[in-house]
Amino acid sequence: MKKESPKPEREVLIDAQRIAGRVGEIGRQIRLDHGDEEIILLAVLKGCFPFVADLARAIDGDIVVDFMQTSSYKDGTTSSGHVQIKRDHDVDITGKHVVVVEDIVDTGITLHSLLGLLSTRSPKSLKTATLLDKPGARTQDVQIDYVGFAIPNVFVVGYGLDYAERYRNLPYVAVLNLPLP
Ligand code: IMP
Ligand code: MG
Repeated sequence: MKKESPKPEREVLIDAQRIAGRVGEIGRQIRLDHGDEEIILLAVLKGCFPFVADLARAIDGDIVVDFMQTSSYKDGTTSSGHVQIKRDHDVDITGKHVVVVEDIVDTGITLHSLLGLLSTRSPKSLKTATLLDKPGARTQDVQIDYVGFAIPNVFVVGYGLDYAERYRNLPYVAVLNLPLP
């Protein structure tokens, strides 16, 4: 019997060139949707750091970049549904156009919870951008205004996304084939 070759550890899902092209498109769209008004990009650490760096440079005119960080709530594969703010933003968002920038929306719990909090701070508008969207994993309905790529329900790493803090430096998004337990 022919022996099956093992799956590679990583398989490229979205290469650097496709990411760059799509991020440029989203940046131009965000500017178009906000006229020449100031936009605050509120980036959710840590996974969004390459995305927000590239996105910020794809938006012409006045923008402000600030960061938030939420606690990871996952124990294995289950979610407690409770999201804690580890770092809050510094800039005042009252009366401002805000775009929350995420690396990936999975269950939607993080983004839903953040939007609930931010909407109490009276921004002029509140929109959301994510590099990756896993619509098949959603348990919490959440509106996403700008999606880089919709992907299947697989675990991905690279371009900021990690597995146990590794792989964030990959210039592409790859599916991580974890060995079965
Ligand atoms: P949500 O609250 O379930 O939407 O979780 C979003 C967060 O889970 C992301 O910001 C990531 O930190 C993490 N996450 C979800 N899916 C993946 C993945 O495929 N690779 C790496 N991190 C992921
Ligand atoms: Mg994240």
